[in-house]
Amino acid sequence: MEATCRRPHHHVVVVVYLSGVLLAGALLTATTAALTDAEASSIAARQLLSFHEPGDGDLPDDFEFDIHVDVTFGNPRLRRAYGALQAWRCAIYSDPKNFTGNWVGPDVCSYFGVTCANALDDPTTTVVDGVDLNGGDIAGYLPVELGAMAELALFHTNSNRFCGIIPKSFNRLSLLHELDVSNNRFVGGFPHVVLEIPVLKYLDLRFNDFDGELPPELFKKDLDAIFVNSNRFVGAIPENLGNSTATVVVLANNGFVGCIPRSVGAMVGTLDQLVLLNNRLDGCLPPEIGELVNTTVVDVSGNKFVGTLPEGIVNMTGLEQLDVSRNQLAGGVAEGICELPVLANFSFGDNFFSVEAAACVPSLEKMVALNDSGNCFGDGRPEQKQQLSVRMCSQTPSTAGRTFVRGGHLTRHRRRNTHR
Ligand SMILES: *[C@@H]1O[C@H](CO)[C@@H](O)[C@H](O)[C@H]1NC(C)=O
Ligand SMILES: *[C@@H]1O[C@H](CO)[C@@H](O)[C@H](O)[C@H]1NC(C)=O
Ligand SMILES: *[C@@H]1O[C@H](CO)[C@@H](O)[C@H](O)[C@H]1NC(C)=O
Ligand SMILES: *[C@@H]1O[C@H](CO)[C@@H](O)[C@H](O)[C@H]1NC(C)=O
Ligand SMILES: *[C@@H]1O[C@H](CO)[C@@H](O)[C@H](O)[C@H]1NC(C)=O
Ligand SMILES: *[C@@H]1O[C@H](CO)[C@@H](O)[C@H](O)[C@H]1NC(C)=O
Repeated sequence: MEATCRRPHHHVVVVVYLSGVLLAGALLTATTAALTDAEASSIAARQLLSFHEPGDGDLPDDFEFDIHVDVTFGNPRLRRAYGALQAWRCAIYSDPKNFTGNWVGPDVCSYFGVTCANALDDPTTTVVDGVDLNGGDIAGYLPVELGAMAELALFHTNSNRFCGIIPKSFNRLSLLHELDVSNNRFVGGFPHVVLEIPVLKYLDLRFNDFDGELPPELFKKDLDAIFVNSNRFVGAIPENLGNSTATVVVLANNGFVGCIPRSVGAMVGTLDQLVLLNNRLDGCLPPEIGELVNTTVVDVSGNKFVGTLPEGIVNMTGLEQLDVSRNQLAGGVAEGICELPVLANFSFGDNFFSVEAAACVPSLEKMVALNDSGNCFGDGRPEQKQQLSVRMCSQTPSTAGRTFVRGGHLTRHRRRNTHR
């Protein structure tokens, strides 16, 4: 009755080919019972060996499961889902909470974490439309066979210990809306396969070990939410950021460098939250940020931004949370920002600001939570920069602003030249 797990290549000695994995452990903080690096790379290696064509991770177009059970399934789609889920069960090496303990037999709709619904194209046919194994702490990989679950709308596996890559066969999930693989041990470059999932709206890759650069195609895709924070992405944010239709864009805690693309203002019709904290972004904040009049959260803290706050911020009347702290911004903090109508929290600590409007001075009586510590406001304010930073603090705001603006342009030209 039970499908047996075929793991054909177990005897093959696998050279550790994913050098990135060796580095991953030191940065991995989010999993509860972390795998050792050797375990993670061994699971990833098994995934590669399981691919029908080496290095591919796709399913053949004529793929059918070879299922020998004496029970009939409600319909062929449930039979296929059974094949995919059993293949997944075979790709699981540790399931401490026994989430997949009842993944036995043909009634896949009764499996823990599996939901069924009537097929969109045939209301009389029951199909598997969702898998949710969130918080399972399961160690394993995603087998290519999951691509056979053509009716999946939701795939949620956050907070597990899945390793390896997202197989190419996921581009066969033509109804998938939500892909949440956050807080696992996935590796490799940005998983391009997610961009081939036709109706994907919610993409959550955060807290993994993905590396390399973001592809510009990410912002051309019609997504509602982009979470790629807490990986090891590097390089510049693609210039076409403004093409994105997402309401939430979270790129925090990576190694992004360079400027915020000036196209950012083009997101005015859709963008609710822009979270870029803790990267290595530099240059000045582009004036176009002020075009985001309905955005509620902007967090650019913990970067290397220079120059002054764009004047246009006073036009961002939807702003509730603004965090520019821990940068190298200078100049003034204008009253118009601190008096924005729905602003609740504005942090601008640890910069080189030297002029502070009365409306921006923190006070318990104000509706806005303000934080001005670690700046150049002098003796009048507590916790300001001392000795070491005096030279920086002595620059006048306007000089600082002009220098930095010009510096930003030069950097951009230079970068273009090196691309040629
Ligand atoms: C796991 O769940 C299955 C099915 O619910 C149960 O039969 C089995 O005893 C459980 N195993 C453990 C170790 O709890
Ligand atoms: C995408 O962005 C580029 C550059 O930022 C812009 O020229 C182009 O018009 C945008 N395309 C769409 C469809 O918004
Ligand atoms: C901002 O939001 C208001 C209220 O929902 C809406 O009327 C306006 O069109 C929006 N502005 C832009 C530029 O999308
Ligand atoms: C604020 O928006 C108005 C209307 O779009 C524009 O004319 C003005 O220049 C903006 N203010 C700043 C400081 O950018
Ligand atoms: C304001 O936001 C910062 C982070 O941006 C947060 O640390 C702080 O707790 C917030 N303050 C209030 C009062 O919400
Ligand atoms: C104020 O901001 C500074 C610098 O970013 C930070 O270290 C401090 O914890 C903040 N204070 C409060 C009360 O949030």
